Amino acid sequence: MIAGDGIGPEVVESALEVLRAAGASLDLVHFEIGLGRWKRTGEAMDEDDLEEISGCDCILLGAITTPPDPNYRSVLLRLRRALDLYANIRPFQSHDLDFIIVRENTEGLYSGVEEVGVEESRTLRVITRRGSERIAEAACDLAARRRRLTIIHKSNVLRSDRLFLQTCREVAERRGILYEDMLVDAAAYNLVTNPQRFDVLVTTNLFGDILSDEAAGVIGSLGLCASANLGKSRALFEPIHGSAPDIAGKGIANPVGAIRSAAMMMRWLGELEAAGRMEEAVKKALSAGVRTPDLGGRCSTSEVTGAVTGYLMAEES
Ligand code: IPM
Ligand code: MG
Repeated sequence: MIAGDGIGPEVVESALEVLRAAGASLDLVHFEIGLGRWKRTGEAMDEDDLEEISGCDCILLGAITTPPDPNYRSVLLRLRRALDLYANIRPFQSHDLDFIIVRENTEGLYSGVEEVGVEESRTLRVITRRGSERIAEAACDLAARRRRLTIIHKSNVLRSDRLFLQTCREVAERRGILYEDMLVDAAAYNLVTNPQRFDVLVTTNLFGDILSDEAAGVIGSLGLCASANLGKSRALFEPIHGSAPDIAGKGIANPVGAIRSAAMMMRWLGELEAAGRMEEAVKKALSAGVRTPDLGGRCSTSEVTGAVTGYLMAEES
C-alpha cells in the first residue's frame, strides 16, 4: 500500500474500508513514499523500497505528488519502469459508455532519453517491436472477450508509429481479433463526439496518457476512473487522478477511482466474486445519487464510502 500525498491517503482509506466490507483478507505492507517522505528525508523512494515492493504480490497506490525539483523523475514512472509494468489498463464506464484504453506504459515519449539545453531540448520517442507486441497482446486479451480493437497512432507523421501500427495489426490478425486503426487526432475528436463507437483502444504511452484524461472527462470526472499497471507477474493499481493538493484534507475527494482500482486488484488476485460485488456496489451508490462535488453532488468521501459499504453489507445479510 502506497497511500502517497494529497488526497491519496483519503481515497486509499476509503478503498480499504470497501475491501474489508467485501471480505478481502489482505496482508498489508505500508510504504511511505512520495512528497511527504522527500520533505522529511530528501528522497521520495529508495532502492530498498523497490526491493521490498518487489516482494509484494501487488501494489495499491493513492496518489503521489512529484517533488518540486526539476531533476526529479516521477516516482510513479520509476515504479512502472522498475517493475516493468508495461500495460496500463484504463476502463471507462458510465450509464451508457463502456470502453477500455490500453496504454503502453514503458516507452514512447516516456523513454527518459533526453538532451536538455538552453536553446534546444530533445526527447527521444522509442517504439520497439517487443514493446508494441506485448501491449498489443494485452489489448487483444481484452478484445477477445469483447467487440473490437482500435489501434491509435500518428503514423502519417511519426515513422516510429509505423512500427507500432504494423506490429499491432500483426498481433490482432494472428489472434483473429476484429480491429481497425485510427489517427490519434481523429480519436480525440471521436471520443468526444461519438464515444459509443469505441470498445478496446490500444495506443502508445503519451497518446494514452492524454486520451485517458479526455475519456475521464467524457464519462464525467477523473475521480471515477481506475487503472491497472500490469507486468508479467507484478501489478500496481491506482486511480487515474492525481494528488489534488487543492482539495486535500477537505474530505470531499471522490473515492470511486480508488475503490474501482481496488476492485481491479481483487480481480487480478483471482477474487472475481468480491471484485464484482465491489463494482456493483459502486454503481448502486452512483445511481442513487451519492456523489462528491466533482460530479455535481454534495456528498463527502466518507458518505460515498459508507454508501458503498452499506450496499455490500446489505447484500450479504
Ligand atoms: C498518469 C499520470 C502520470 C503519467 C504522471 C503523474 C507521471 O498523468 O498516470 O496518467 O504521465 O503517466
Ligand atoms: Mg495522466
